[in-house]
Amino acid sequence: MRLEIRHLTKHYRRGRTHFDAVSNVSFSLADGAFVCLTGRSGSGKTTLLNMLIGLLSPDSGEILVDETNLFLLDDRQRSDFRNARIGYIPQGRSLLGNLTALDNARLPFHLRRRSGDSLQKARELFAQVGIPHLENSYPAQLSGGELRRVALARALINSPELILADEPTSDLDIETAQEIFALFSSLNAQGVTFLAATHDVELSRRGSAIWEMHSGRLTQKTE
Ligand SMILES: Nc1ncnc2c1ncn2[C@@H]1O[C@H](COP(=O)(O)OP(=O)(O)OP(=O)(O)O)[C@@H](O)[C@H]1O
Ligand SMILES: [Mg+2]
Repeated sequence: MRLEIRHLTKHYRRGRTHFDAVSNVSFSLADGAFVCLTGRSGSGKTTLLNMLIGLLSPDSGEILVDETNLFLLDDRQRSDFRNARIGYIPQGRSLLGNLTALDNARLPFHLRRRSGDSLQKARELFAQVGIPHLENSYPAQLSGGELRRVALARALINSPELILADEPTSDLDIETAQEIFALFSSLNAQGVTFLAATHDVELSRRGSAIWEMHSGRLTQKTE
């Protein structure tokens, strides 16, 4: 899946302060790329990803996913598009407390009418992310790193073409983080496109390119 971003801007105001959390950002993300997005806390990474996934509307600019202009779709079409084609791993905690870990991961499959069942796929994913023993646990019973891995399985359940990951390894120990990035690399080798915000310099080198944000601008691209 190819992403084409043109002059994307998101403006915020806080009290008397006005600023662009994302400021005139343009780039293209080639089909099959694996880009790591770095930048200091507050530089606009999450704001950018939230626009790319279609959850936050930009003040100006365009997001083209393949040939589709994301913000020319209506809400329903946009969420269908996201559900079918994009996997998102949000930065914060995002699981539903009244569902088991496995049911949280299966949820995106069942939000739309689909044939088949998600149980086997969810179990495979739980094994891949190293939490097969936690299927029936509830989010309140899990550690930060375990929650992260459930969110990862949830992002993968519909076999997305593009994965947007916001600090996917932030709660993980080094070994588990490396395993997760190895999983990303193998999915990438199968053609899945990645854009991952990460503070982890070591892991970011595993991608095909490192981009850096600074005060809302995309300042540096290292291929
Ligand atoms: N809803 C909002 N209203 C006002 N300001 C906001 C809002 N959301 C984010 N910001 C501000 O926009 C800037 C960019 O935030 P963002 O979350 O995109 O940063 P980030 O690069 O993801 O940081 P981190 O590495 O800490 O996750 C920050 O200064 C933040 O305080
Ligand atoms: Mg962030």
